[in-house]
Amino acid sequence: MSESFDLSYRDKSLQQFESYPYPGIPIEEPLNQDIGELYKNCLVTSHYCRDKRVITDLENRAILDVACGTGATTLRLAWANPGTKIVGIDMSPESIKIAEQRLKYHGFDDAEFHVLAIEDLGQLEQRFDLINASDVLYLLPDLALTLKQLAQVLKSDGIIRGNLHSYYQRHNYYRAQALFQKMGLMEDNPEETELNLVREFYDALKDGVDLKMKTWRYNDSSKVADQLILMNHLFQNDKGYTLSQLFDSFQQSGLQLVDMVDWRYWDWKNLFKQPDNLPAYLVMGLEGSSLEEQLCFYELVQPDKRLLDFWCGHVRKDKDDGEIDRDWQEQNPEKVIVHLHPCLHTERFREAILESNAVAPVNLKQFFPFLDRDAWVDHTLLCCLGVPLLDSPRSLQFLWARWRQLRPLDPADFCAVNEGKLLDLLKLAIFEQESLGVLLVEVVD
Ligand SMILES: C[S@@+](CC[C@H](N)C(=O)[O-])C[C@H]1O[C@@H](n2cnc3c(N)ncnc32)[C@H](O)[C@@H]1O
Repeated sequence: MSESFDLSYRDKSLQQFESYPYPGIPIEEPLNQDIGELYKNCLVTSHYCRDKRVITDLENRAILDVACGTGATTLRLAWANPGTKIVGIDMSPESIKIAEQRLKYHGFDDAEFHVLAIEDLGQLEQRFDLINASDVLYLLPDLALTLKQLAQVLKSDGIIRGNLHSYYQRHNYYRAQALFQKMGLMEDNPEETELNLVREFYDALKDGVDLKMKTWRYNDSSKVADQLILMNHLFQNDKGYTLSQLFDSFQQSGLQLVDMVDWRYWDWKNLFKQPDNLPAYLVMGLEGSSLEEQLCFYELVQPDKRLLDFWCGHVRKDKDDGEIDRDWQEQNPEKVIVHLHPCLHTERFREAILESNAVAPVNLKQFFPFLDRDAWVDHTLLCCLGVPLLDSPRSLQFLWARWRQLRPLDPADFCAVNEGKLLDLLKLAIFEQESLGVLLVEVVD
C-alpha cells in the first residue's frame, strides 16, 4: 500500500473544486432541515446505534466535517448537534471561504474552518467524537489509507460517517467517464468548453441509445445542470466501490462497521414478497449469516442507492458484550432509562400530543418522515410516554407508574388492571418505538 498520495490526484480535484465549489447552493438558502436529515447527522443516533448509550453532553463533544466543500453538510451537522464544537476542513480555499460565510450567516460564529488536505489532518492536533466524510472518500486513490488517516484523529469511542459511490448503482456513469476520458475531455480541468461538448454529444445521440437512456437527463443549461454533469459525467477521480471492497479496507485500517446509516432500508427481508414464508435454505443462509454478508447480499440484489452510506469506528477488542447487549426488558425498571430522541423534541410534536384526543390514534410517521412504516399510537400511550419524555428522560419505573395512573381499570371489564401485565404492555410499546428509532433506551448502573 502506498503511504503517500499521488499528487496529480489532488491537483485534479483541487482544480475542479476551486472552479466549481460544491455544492453550489447560495449561502442564504435554508437547505433541507427535515428531521430525517438531522437525525442521521446527530451524533446521538450513531453512538446509540453502536453502544446503546445516549450522549447527553453535546457541549463537550467535537465534530469534524472532512472535505466540507461549501459547508452544506457542516451546517446540517451544526443544526443536528446544538452546542457541539464544529470544525470543517477542505483543501479548496474557495470552498472553505464559502463554508465559513455559510455557517456565520446561519448563526454559527464559533464553527472553525481550515484549508487542509485529509493527508495532513494530523496537524489539527485534536480528536473528534464524530467525523463526517461525505462525498469525498471515493475521490482518493487509496481508501484504506484515507480511513487510517481519519482514524488517527478519531477518539477511541468516536464514529466516522462516510460514504462511497456504489459501483453497481453508478456503473453507467463510469462508462460515460471512460468515454469522455478517451475523447480527451478530462485531461485538463473540465470547464465550460467540455460541458458544451458533452451536451452536444448527447444531443447528437439518438434517444434510444443505451448510454443516453441511462445517463442523460440534463436538457437545460442551468448552473445546477452544469454541476450535475461535472459531478457525474466529467467527475475527476470518481471511483465506484462495492461493500466487499469497503469491508476489506476496514480490515486494513483497523476500523469496523457500526451499521449502514439507512439501516432500515438494508434489511434483506424488504426484498421478498413474503419474508416470513421463504424456502428453508434461504432462511438458514441469511439468518445465520453476519451483518456484512447480509449487506453484500442486499447490494447484489438491489443496488439502487448512489451512496453506500455507513458508520464505522475503531475495532473494539475489549468490548464488554455482556454490558452493551444487555436486554433492558429483563432489567429492574428503575435502571432502565427511556429518552425521546433529541431531534424529535419539536414544537410540532409537542402541540400534536397536547391536541390529540382519545378517539383517534396518532400516526408518528407524520412527524418523523424517516419512519419506514406507519406507527399508530393511542392517546393514552402518547400522553404516558410523549408528555414526560418531551421534558426529560424518565425511568421505566416512572413511566409504569404514570401508565397505572392513566389506566387504573381494564376498559373491557372495569376490574383493576394487572400491574405485571401492564408493565409487559408498556415494554412492548417502548420496544416498538425503540426499534423505529423514536425512543432510546439505556440501562444504567
Ligand atoms: C463532492 S465535494 C463534497 C463536499 C461536501 N462534503 C458535501 O458532501 O457537500 C468534495 C470535496 O472534497 C474536497 N477534497 C477532495 N480531495 C480532498 C483532500 N485530499 N483533502 C481535503 N479535501 C479534499 C474537495 O475540495 C471538495 O470540496
